Amino acid sequence: MLRIINITKSFPQRGIVLNNLSLNVNEGDSVSVSGPSGSGKTTLLNIIGLLDSPDKGEIIFRNNKILEYDAEQSASYRNKNIGFIFQDHLLLPYLTVKENVLLPLMASKLSEAEYTEKANDAFKMMEKTGISDLSEKYPFTISGGEAQRVALVRALVNRPSLLLADEPTGSLDRKNAENLGNILTEMNREFGITIILATHSASLAGKMSIKMKFSEGTLILDDNP
Ligand SMILES: Nc1ncnc2c1ncn2[C@@H]1O[C@H](COP(=O)(O)OP(=O)(O)OP(=O)(O)O)[C@@H](O)[C@H]1O
Ligand SMILES: [Mg+2]
Repeated sequence: MLRIINITKSFPQRGIVLNNLSLNVNEGDSVSVSGPSGSGKTTLLNIIGLLDSPDKGEIIFRNNKILEYDAEQSASYRNKNIGFIFQDHLLLPYLTVKENVLLPLMASKLSEAEYTEKANDAFKMMEKTGISDLSEKYPFTISGGEAQRVALVRALVNRPSLLLADEPTGSLDRKNAENLGNILTEMNREFGITIILATHSASLAGKMSIKMKFSEGTLILDDNP
């Protein structure tokens, strides 16, 4: 699905962060990326999501050279294929939970039938993740764990094939972190969503089928996360 080939990325003040990094991800894989703070996890996810670009290297997503995309193609790649979740949920405070979840559908040009289908899917996912009862609430009236589940459903509402999760349990307590980790593995198993997840949590990394860690700017298998 995704082939990352010899990616190098440096920042002016920092020097080389990603050093000739390569990674293959197959459809349906779940991949954890670990490594100390500053090792390049977020940088890598940003590059895969085309939010940042490498100095050199190649990325092939389903036979397409995505680094050659212009702004419009990049936006369409993200909208069609990629779901993002971050450490902070970034829900819009003036929209209800339900409105937040359905927001990405507004940005896609959908027929009424497609909209209804995806909205119904979203309601099913809300059901599954235990946030249905929160539909009409505003983000500041729900807990952090609940908000993160809302953010997850929002990330999945366009049925992306690839979910990029950057420290998604970083601001959750253990119980909520455990719960979100289980939901992620369920989404991977049931809907076949491919996951690439950056985390400091060994227990979250352990739930993924392929465990990688940063070593000198590149990724190696992590046998003992
Ligand atoms: N836009 C930027 N400009 C300059 N330096 C940057 C930029 N983004 C990241 N860096 C540097 O690149 C390095 C890697 O950062 P990155 O955010 O990818 O690390 P990380 O592994 O995600 O860390 P953490 O676990 O703390 O989230 C860091 O040294 C960071 O300071
Ligand atoms: Mg980071």
